Amino acid sequence: MIDVINDIGETRRRMTEDRTAGRSIGLVPTMGALHDGHLSLIERARSENDRVVVSIFVNPTQYDDPADLERYPRTLAADVERAEGVGADLIFHPSPEDIYHDAYRYRVTESEFSRRLEGAHRKGHFDGVLTVVLKLLNIVGADRAYFGEKDWQQLQLVRDMAAAFFLPTHIVACRIIREVDGLAMSSRNIHLTDDQRKLAPELHRTLASKWSADEMTRHLASTGFEVDYVERRDGRVLGAVRLGKVRLIDNVQI
Ligand code: PAJ
Repeated sequence: MIDVINDIGETRRRMTEDRTAGRSIGLVPTMGALHDGHLSLIERARSENDRVVVSIFVNPTQYDDPADLERYPRTLAADVERAEGVGADLIFHPSPEDIYHDAYRYRVTESEFSRRLEGAHRKGHFDGVLTVVLKLLNIVGADRAYFGEKDWQQLQLVRDMAAAFFLPTHIVACRIIREVDGLAMSSRNIHLTDDQRKLAPELHRTLASKWSADEMTRHLASTGFEVDYVERRDGRVLGAVRLGKVRLIDNVQI
């Protein structure tokens, strides 16, 4: 049976034991509501490490909208089963009080790229992400940590943070897992109505087209999306849109 551990001290002890015994550790940070996108990260970690830790923590500091935090699906029992099914050894499921025992007085701030794209639409979002990722990396002391290209800006910022602070953990990028119609898998997709769900794959189709960013923006707006941004950057085109209350992000390599 897989272990589900809430306690930070206990998790650190287990990890120290593994490291002392010469076992490599892979960490997959998540907020739960695990879908096949998350599972692909766990499978990758399984293939590259002796121990695989999945953290499940709905991180309050990366939400600027309390309603969004409230709405986030919490499905621990199903998550534990899924993670175990693809070979996770341990679920780390800490409480917000333990993770933020400092009441978030200390935080990591990136002052340039984090203010753009997602950061321009979600104030303080990346401070929350980087802070919790640093805490998780310090607690687990993983050799490798796995992040999806789905959240491309997050991946770049985490990589840059690891380099900036000389963290010993290697940050591994994993490709985007999609539904058959191209929609990138996301915990938020379950909030889409039937009509919104039918429209949603148009985001990926549009980003994968040969149009300019402006043409993509106009096309998405004319088909019923509210467009937060479409931008080309580092050989990618990145987009974020809203369908009603649901915010979708995606990106494709040019
Ligand atoms: P969460 O949204 O749960 O995502 C956890 C990891 O799964 C992230 O690295 C994300 O990029 C990856 N992921 C999500 N959907 C994916 C898909 N369709 N294909 C491939 N990978 C996918 O991202 C977070 O949580 C949080 O910000 C976190 C890093 C855990 C910090 O709180």
